[in-house]
Amino acid sequence: MKDENFDFEERWKEESRRMFDSSEARKAFENVFDHSTSMALLKLSEQGIIDTLYGTIESGKESVVFLADTAEEERVIVKIYMTRAGNFREMKRYLRGDKRFRNVKDDRRAVVQEWCKKEYRNLKKALNVVKCPGPIAFRRNIVVMEFAGEEFSPYPKMKNVEIQNPQEGYKQVLNGIKRLWHKEELVHGDLSEYNLLVGREGVTWWIDFSHGVHYNHPEAEELLKRDVKNIANFFSRQGADTDPEKDYKRVISG
Ligand SMILES: Nc1ncnc2c1ncn2[C@@H]1O[C@H](COP(=O)(O)OP(=O)(O)OP(=O)(O)O)[C@@H](O)[C@H]1O
Ligand SMILES: [Mg+2]
Repeated sequence: MKDENFDFEERWKEESRRMFDSSEARKAFENVFDHSTSMALLKLSEQGIIDTLYGTIESGKESVVFLADTAEEERVIVKIYMTRAGNFREMKRYLRGDKRFRNVKDDRRAVVQEWCKKEYRNLKKALNVVKCPGPIAFRRNIVVMEFAGEEFSPYPKMKNVEIQNPQEGYKQVLNGIKRLWHKEELVHGDLSEYNLLVGREGVTWWIDFSHGVHYNHPEAEELLKRDVKNIANFFSRQGADTDPEKDYKRVISG
């Protein structure tokens, strides 16, 4: 629907001047935003979900992660997927095999939108069984979630942390995988020391649930096996005793 009185360009210029905290943030954003993304951002800003947008935390091939504050001065993460980039075919495969997203349309925009919805929904489910960022909102190609970090720094990735007790760490992550599978019918699908953060007092935060699928997905068991293998490899390098084949079987049999 077109609103004749709505001058998007003017409104966006005005709002982005206010919203971005620095020219650096604006510049980073220029690589990501198209009309549709900025419309979504504008809407989130009107709702008070995003008030100030700081610089990027990380930019990957498919998404850019920003730090932001809500109107209530709560620090949050704004993950923006680039509609033009990304492995569109892979996304579609993950979506179509998942009974929750079976009917996704064939165009890029629709796929990315469903991808964001999937990440949001997965986080909501995962929150019941592991420590992960609480999902706050999703809109088009944007997901807003709780910030796992302090001030302006996210908690470090597990790969950069010295693990105190690798055997215990391995056991805990395996238990998390097991709870996700049996209690939430979910597999993370991209689990590794890159998508686990280590918070205060060694608490493990699970992030990056965009690849997660329902356990009835035709590839779910393969993904589960890969998740276990990645985690086993990591903890084994840290000195833990692991047996990925056996541990996978233990996870899946409950
Ligand atoms: N909720 C969060 N709290 C703190 N830091 C985060 C959060 N989400 C993401 N990050 C930071 O941003 C980095 C990239 O985020 P993430 O792993 O979700 O995306 P990605 O790997 O780039 O994307 P993709 O979904 O395409 O695999 C993380 O490694 C982490 O440092
Ligand atoms: Mg990641």
